Amino acid sequence: MAFWWYGAVLYHVYLRSFRDSNGDGYGDLGGLLAGLDHIAALGADAIWLSPVNPSPDTDWGYDVSDYCAVHPELGTLAQLDEVIAEAAARGMRVLLDLVPNHTSDQHAWFLDARTARDAVHRDYYVWADPKNGGPPNNWLDDTGEPAWDWDGATGQYYLHNFLPTQPDLNWRNPQVGREFDAIMDFWCDRGVAGFRIDVANGLFKDAALRDNPSNAELLPGHLPVPGSHGQQHIYNYNQPEVHGVYRHWRARAAERTPQTLLLGETWVLHPSQLAEYYGDGDELQLAFNFPLIFACFSAREFARVIAETFAALPPGACPIWAGSNHDLPRLGTRWAGGDQAKMRLAHTVLALLPGVYGLYYGDELGMADSDIPAELQRDPLTLGGKNGQWPRDNARSPMRWTPDGGFTTGEPWLPLGPDPSLNVASQDADPDSMLSFTRDLLALRRAIHGGQLNGYEQLHVDDAVFAFATGPAVVVANFSGEEVSWAGVGETGTKPVAPWSALVYLVD
Ligand code: NOJ
Ligand code: CA
Repeated sequence: MAFWWYGAVLYHVYLRSFRDSNGDGYGDLGGLLAGLDHIAALGADAIWLSPVNPSPDTDWGYDVSDYCAVHPELGTLAQLDEVIAEAAARGMRVLLDLVPNHTSDQHAWFLDARTARDAVHRDYYVWADPKNGGPPNNWLDDTGEPAWDWDGATGQYYLHNFLPTQPDLNWRNPQVGREFDAIMDFWCDRGVAGFRIDVANGLFKDAALRDNPSNAELLPGHLPVPGSHGQQHIYNYNQPEVHGVYRHWRARAAERTPQTLLLGETWVLHPSQLAEYYGDGDELQLAFNFPLIFACFSAREFARVIAETFAALPPGACPIWAGSNHDLPRLGTRWAGGDQAKMRLAHTVLALLPGVYGLYYGDELGMADSDIPAELQRDPLTLGGKNGQWPRDNARSPMRWTPDGGFTTGEPWLPLGPDPSLNVASQDADPDSMLSFTRDLLALRRAIHGGQLNGYEQLHVDDAVFAFATGPAVVVANFSGEEVSWAGVGETGTKPVAPWSALVYLVD
């Protein structure tokens, strides 16, 4: 069975930074409507929208206070309906961000849960008694602080794997699952094509709440991984019970036509762990590849992680390749160090692999990270470099639409990126721009992969060159500052491959 996402491009809209329609400095649904033509012109097949639900915004929407409504600052439900319809008119589908691991502490469930130990929603959350006069175990949250907060009124701790304002839900309570079935139905009935599932490897925690072992080691070949804080998170993530949820969701997804897409934020470090989230083809249809995101930008590391991914995935599984997101340094900085040639190479390799290609807003312009001064940062989770965390705001700069900005008529919530040339209008008019390059690349991708799940064969790897064959294409990527030559291009023979660039050719 072929799915619509085979060979697709998924464009990731971080809504508050995409485009503002009312001058309050925050991107919104009206801005997205105005920017849909830009996304369609790239050749995107679908859009993943960062959270749109009402939220006190202690984690910019990842602290949901109402799962079945739209945040008034971002727009209205009618506007979201319009986004879905207007996207469809341009051949694109819309995925929402679903946050099932935790709610806001202002969600009605948690407000009720903390009123009394026998409150109706008490068991929607993870509560535990003190141990030796302190927290129940050694778990740390994403900021490196204890993952337990004391609730004086009811005399127990509650769990939060992220901020204290984001209490973790208790998925051992079947009622929580029933709530999320209804939430997903609500959005699917409105025409949403699927969900990006936040913290998809969370949800369940060790039933005995055992201590996590320590782990100060850096994995060989990997960049530092934020959020581990010296622990192996083996008891508060990746519990076997989570797979039952995904089998259930997948069975429900399959009842819809087309099948609802379930895309996991699967923050795991090895492709074998990633593969588990595909199940036997009966769990998530897509799982973000964090092992590749944490790989160094080299021919050998890319070849290794990509080979390990294909070896690990179950038969017929569809990978997704994305180099940037709103939580990590953009690939333009992390891999390319601001070098446009390296950015183009990274996008070429990712976009020409079989599966789904995830493109983060602004990467098509060559955006790299901003260096937002501490006093202008807005992300409470990393504010002031909390516990050495890299400020996520640096990857969330508002997009530039014109040479003088064009993002808002007001004061942008975060400063725009420092390079005014990285704007849509100027690059649209320039055939040599990163934007024109991206459009051409995605057209080539469509010709190679559109509607297909092609195979993958590694042809070669050395210190400089990584080459693979997929469908009708051969991709020869030169990850070095020296020109190399590649033999075997049919009758044309040996070809030069310029530094930090790729040679792509089609074979019969
Ligand atoms: C992952 C999201 O991408 C991130 O932005 C958020 O802070 C955490 N999950 C918690 O929801
Ligand atoms: Ca706005």
